[in-house]
Amino acid sequence: MIEKLNHVAIAVPDLEAACASYRGMLGAKVSKPQDEPDHGVTVVFVELANSKIELLFPLGDNSPIQGFLDKNPSGGIHHLCFEVDDIMAARDHLVSEGARILGSGEPKTGAHGKPVLFLHPKDFQGTLIELEEA
Ligand code: CO
Repeated sequence: MIEKLNHVAIAVPDLEAACASYRGMLGAKVSKPQDEPDHGVTVVFVELANSKIELLFPLGDNSPIQGFLDKNPSGGIHHLCFEVDDIMAARDHLVSEGARILGSGEPKTGAHGKPVLFLHPKDFQGTLIELEEA
């Protein structure tokens, strides 16, 4: 059911320093910061040949990234995003298998303008998983 790894998201406490590390030390192609007020994050995309890294920095007062950074002050891997063909079919399959969908259970529009869902980390070995319709 899951297909390509769309991105690995990393929560960062200092977006400029993170961009400098990826651009300068790792020699990666790094985008300009993009504010996503609906998701409470500012995102920077690091383009790789076969996938992407998303650097996430809190935006606004109720950012879902803030709690993560409070627990992990130097930052860390926040979630993995896998592509699926049909997000509603994927959701129905996951629910029938006993997996928990976060939030309302309905897809939201993600950072790439496509429908996304998040799955409960307790159902996946402590890893928050995002599914994105490709
Ligand atoms: Co994501």
